[in-house]
Amino acid sequence: MFDDLRSFIQKLDEIGELKKIEGAHWDLEIGTITELMAERKGPALLFDKVKGYPKGYRVAANILYTSIMQRLAFGFPEELSDMDVIKYWKDKESNFKPVPPVEVSSGPVRENVLTEDQINVLKFPVPKWHELDGGRYIGSGTLTITRDPDEGWLNFGTYRAMVQDEKTLGFYSSPAKHGNLMRQKYWARGESCPVVVCFGQEPILFAASTMNLPWGVSEFDFAGYLKGQPIEVIRGEVTGLPIPATAEIAIEGFSPPPEVDSRPEGPFGEWTGYYASGSRTEPVVHIKAIYHRNNPIIHGQPPLKPPYNAWYPIPIHLATPLWSELESLGMQGITGVWVHGPSGRPIGVVAVKQSYLGHAKQIAHIAASLMHGGACAGRYIIVVDDDIDPSNFDDVLWAVTTRCNPETSIDLVRGFLSSPLDPSIPPEKRARGDFTTAKVIIDACRPYHWRHEFPPVNKASDELRQKVLSAWRHLFT
Ligand SMILES: Cc1cc2nc3c(=O)[nH]c(=O)nc-3n(C[C@H](O)[C@H](O)[C@H](O)COP(=O)(O)O)c2cc1C
Repeated sequence: MFDDLRSFIQKLDEIGELKKIEGAHWDLEIGTITELMAERKGPALLFDKVKGYPKGYRVAANILYTSIMQRLAFGFPEELSDMDVIKYWKDKESNFKPVPPVEVSSGPVRENVLTEDQINVLKFPVPKWHELDGGRYIGSGTLTITRDPDEGWLNFGTYRAMVQDEKTLGFYSSPAKHGNLMRQKYWARGESCPVVVCFGQEPILFAASTMNLPWGVSEFDFAGYLKGQPIEVIRGEVTGLPIPATAEIAIEGFSPPPEVDSRPEGPFGEWTGYYASGSRTEPVVHIKAIYHRNNPIIHGQPPLKPPYNAWYPIPIHLATPLWSELESLGMQGITGVWVHGPSGRPIGVVAVKQSYLGHAKQIAHIAASLMHGGACAGRYIIVVDDDIDPSNFDDVLWAVTTRCNPETSIDLVRGFLSSPLDPSIPPEKRARGDFTTAKVIIDACRPYHWRHEFPPVNKASDELRQKVLSAWRHLFT
């Protein structure tokens, strides 16, 4: 596992998966090159000598964009198929034992410490990613660290951060997110919420920050468990919060109650491929200290119009929790779970070895309720038989178009939580603050009660394929 962002980027370079670009402008050029290169399935990008900035102040983008990069960054075993990675990650999560962070006296993040008049977040080449963005976003691949004031545990999550001015950042965290819930507890007491935000960190921290871990489980403990050793942190001088010792850039500050200070945030080109949530008044963070390494790197993870993923090609963030939760509710016979669609979110597919009447339907309806609300995730649930690979959308489509009778096998259930980011919420509903959506539930399994009469599949048997493969191996190597 990598101890910092730069050693991961160096590894990408060594394996020919990195392109270094000099002289691009922070104002739309970095963003547009990122988009054009993603469309061409190009390598990861490292921007240096950004217009108006000294050499060494860098921006990395598209670094988790392919399966190869994600596997390398998060340490997935090479031999596993993408579908098996989901199972591997699920098993790993279910054996979780907390590995708390360890405090060290110093670390590279302290190479430069800026306070008071020195504080200026535009010291870094913060990109304006897309033309309609309301500002420059330093935070797209962030860790936002907070401590619960009652329970004392530490959370971090990836929440976007727009530069409001040199000493102030936007703090956009959706309603049910843990950072959001924690900050409200401080505000309810009339206090400001202490915050640390990092803008470039070791990849395993980023993986942990994008997982929906249960309330009370610290992402620091989870990241340490995944890494197999404690995450090293220094103590922030202003807030006392831990700061990953090898982070590229971190700020410490306080988020005041919204009635004291909140400002327009957005629009921001979102992972749905739209600007649906427009600009709204959102909380802010007043920066009290900046820490950064020499030659710092901003981790840019801007949403691009799908299919270019703001999240990950292997959807550990949604498929894994969905599978675990279904099993924890007693659902048996699940052989795979995948999530397709923009940023690996709106189309959940569950494969099941059916063993009783209504088995597939039961799993489908539970999955529809479980698929996390918010931002139109979980719009479609498809349940397929165990001979279908849920990660292969062509296979799933084949099942939907051949085993699902629309008259009897599709349900539409109304009233699930979506979000302001959902572009399909009509204006009048949006004006009422009604961000609910319907879900479509598709049972694409062979009907259980006549499964034995269902026409056989037109494909060589496993036995015959093996026999022919051994006899004709030279054709297939
Ligand atoms: C690139 C990227 C950007 C994200 N941006 C936001 C955001 O701006 N606001 C938000 O609430 N969640 C955002 N998320 C989702 C959260 O990071 C994710 O749901 C995480 O689990 C939240 O952590 P929490 O459960 O500790 O709150 C983003 C995820 C990724 C991968």
